[in-house]
Formats: sequence, C-alpha cells, structure tokens
Amino acid sequence: MIIAVDGPAASGKGTIARALAKRYGLPHLDTGLLYRAVAATVLREELDPAREADAVAACGFPDALLDDPWLRTDGVGQAASIVSAHPLVRAALLQRQRRFAAQPGGAILDGRDIGTVIAPQADVKLFVKATPRIRAQRRHAELQRRGFDVTFDRVLADIRARDERDAKRASAPMKPADDATLLDTSFLSIEAAVQRAIALVEERTAAKADRP
Ligand code: CDP
Ligand code: CDP
Repeated sequence: MIIAVDGPAASGKGTIARALAKRYGLPHLDTGLLYRAVAATVLREELDPAREADAVAACGFPDALLDDPWLRTDGVGQAASIVSAHPLVRAALLQRQRRFAAQPGGAILDGRDIGTVIAPQADVKLFVKATPRIRAQRRHAELQRRGFDVTFDRVLADIRARDERDAKRASAPMKPADDATLLDTSFLSIEAAVQRAIALVEERTAAKADRP
C-alpha cells in the first residue's frame, strides 16, 4: 500500500503521515526535509537559494543533516520553498523519493507533489488543509515549544509567502491530485484528524478490494 499525504505548511500532514505509518507498519518519508536539507546547505555555504546552480550543487547533502533541528526553522523553510521551485533540484531529488515509494511492503510519503508527481499510482491520496491563521498558530506554538523565538505575524507571513510560491511555481506546483480526498483539519484535534485519515484509508482500500 502506498499512501500519499500532501498539503500546505503546518496543515498537519506530517502528524497524520506519522500516525498512519505507525498504524499500518509502513516506512514514512517526510519529503519536505529533503528540500529543507538542500536549503540549509545553500544557506550554510552562503550561496543563493534563488540561483538554480547553487541549489543543485547542494543536493548531495549528507544524510546526517536530516536530523538537524535547524532544518525545522522558518528561515530554512522559506529558503526550501525557493530552492524547491528549481526544476533541476526537483529532478535531483526525484529518484530518491520514487525508490522510497517503491519499497516492496509499501510506504507513506508526505509533501506537496506526492499524489501528483512522485507516486501518482498511490493507493490512497490525502490532501490535508487548514486555514492560514490556524496553520500559523500551530507552527508558532510548535516553534516556541522548540525554543525558537519568533512572532506570530512573522510565522503567518512566512506561511502565506510559501503557500503562494508553492502553488504558483511551474514545476510540480502544490495542488490536490484529481483523485485525492481533501481533509480539512482546521477544527479537528490531532486525534480527530488521525481518526478521519484512518477512516479514509479504510474506505479507499475497501473500495479497491471490491472492484472486480
Ligand atoms: O512542514 P512544512 O509543511 O512547513 O514544510 P515542508 O513540508 O518541510 O516543506 C518545506 C518546503 O519544501 C515547502 O514550502 C515546499 O516549497 C518544498 N516541498 C516541495 O516543494 N515538495 C515536497 N514534496 C515537499 C516540500
Ligand atoms: O507536516 P505539516 O507541516 O503539514 O504539519 P505538522 O507538523 O503535522 O503539524 C504542525 C503542528 O500543528 C504540529 O505542532 C502539530 O502538533 C499541530 N497540529 C494540530 O495542532 N492539530 C492538528 N489537527 C494537526 C497538527
């Protein structure tokens, strides 16, 4: 079973993907971290995220970087949405994600283009959403918990800027796949959102099993 979980920043897609991975015993890949690792490498080397050649050169980052808490910050997120618009960066990270999706037992990936580009054959596709303000409240609380000092207005502005950039880019823009199920988590607790996601997976897999 391949499950694709897409959606904008702080919609809750990572939380849902991790919960589904646990529930179904599937390996999980947070694909946003790959773009964040490229962005962090560019920033650390004082290169320019807007220059495609600089961003491509950063695609060979070491795996250990994926564990660095700095990757989760808004500054790196913002740069990630700049590097991720370069077609050559997307191409450089494509095979790694497709290989992950093609594991024999199945897999769960979360990101922006899993259901549309990385795994269009996925058995279940969720597109998780929530209003920008609610997403900003969640991300702000999360960053404060992690000890990063940032204002709510800054986080909201960052989320809006990334939404716009991610949805408008020419290469693999963020959009729900035609066959994705929308899951609005604006007024759902984490538990309720996860329950809803599990119900959708069960519905989808039951519908597939019924087909002749
Ligand atoms: O966790 P959050 O939703 O804030 O961001 P993320 O998933 O870590 O993604 C960071 C940035 O990487 C996004 O703003 C996108 O520009 C980019 N990204 C992408 O282009 N395609 C993906 N499959 C995942 C992330
Ligand atoms: O992966 P993505 O950026 O879409 O979001 P996330 O990391 O799963 O969730 C962002 C924050 O919102 C986390 O701190 C979650 O605990 C929280 N959250 C929430 O408050 N309510 C939900 N229904 C889902 C997530």
